[in-house]
Amino acid sequence: MFDTVYFDGAYKSKSEVNISPDDRGFLFGDGAYEVVVAYKGRYFRKREHLERLNHSLRGLRITGIDAFSLEPILDDLMVKNMVGSADVTAYIQITRGVTERKHAFPSSDVAPTVFVRLMPVVRDPSFKTGVSVITVPDTRWSRCDIKSINLLPNCLANQLAREAGCIEAIFVRDGVVLEGTLSSFFAVFNGVARTAPKSNYILAGVTRQAALDICQREGIPCSEEPIYMTDLANAEEMFITGTTREIAPIIQIDGKPVGSGQPGPFVRRLAELYRMQAEAATTNAHSA
Ligand SMILES: Cc1ncc(COP(=O)(O)O)c(C=O)c1O
Repeated sequence: MFDTVYFDGAYKSKSEVNISPDDRGFLFGDGAYEVVVAYKGRYFRKREHLERLNHSLRGLRITGIDAFSLEPILDDLMVKNMVGSADVTAYIQITRGVTERKHAFPSSDVAPTVFVRLMPVVRDPSFKTGVSVITVPDTRWSRCDIKSINLLPNCLANQLAREAGCIEAIFVRDGVVLEGTLSSFFAVFNGVARTAPKSNYILAGVTRQAALDICQREGIPCSEEPIYMTDLANAEEMFITGTTREIAPIIQIDGKPVGSGQPGPFVRRLAELYRMQAEAATTNAHSA
């Protein structure tokens, strides 16, 4: 399972993929990516992910490809890898293509390199029972709205979290708490869930938006407003959201318990509503 991938215009075995040493993704980290989850063999919120991929491509000025042209490939890979009704994630990566190593863009006839693969969904049990996180200074660039494959600050921060026995590091820029290395961040104050407003300093998380939409629909109080580091001590609950993590309670931050140190009622309810929505999508015609 998962051996068949799409690379450079063809389906092949993963071991047959040859990345050129002149690929700008390899040389410069010059590319964008997306991760889409499929529940029971059906993609969830695929449109939102492909729209965001187009946003990233536009931000990087990678031309000659529309993310929506990849839909048949996403479907073919399901069949070729005999996914059936399993839960999987699709990883899509597009780089600016193969050219001699010069910083400025190649001519427009250089085609982007497209790589798509499926992977098993790995869900850590702590995504349900509660995760521990640390806060770290945000050392990323100022276009965090682009899902760039250039993830060094995220990797360095995530490694710090792992070394501290935690699952995620939350970036803080100038005293403002923004998001995790691979998740969005929420905190609950006086019963209202708050998350950083969309800007160039965060990725517009698809799960973040799903959580906000659920809150709106169910009349659960939420807001998109800055969270300051100095606010955190007053938060009743905190949670992270992400495509594979879904909605995961934070029970400890920087070594201190959050609220009671157990997942609180707000996040438990929201996580349950999110799960119900994901399950409902698998029974409706194709992806939600
Ligand atoms: C930096 C960052 N923020 C937030 C997220 C969560 O986004 P989504 O809910 O679309 O998976 C991710 C996911 O990879 C991410 O890398």
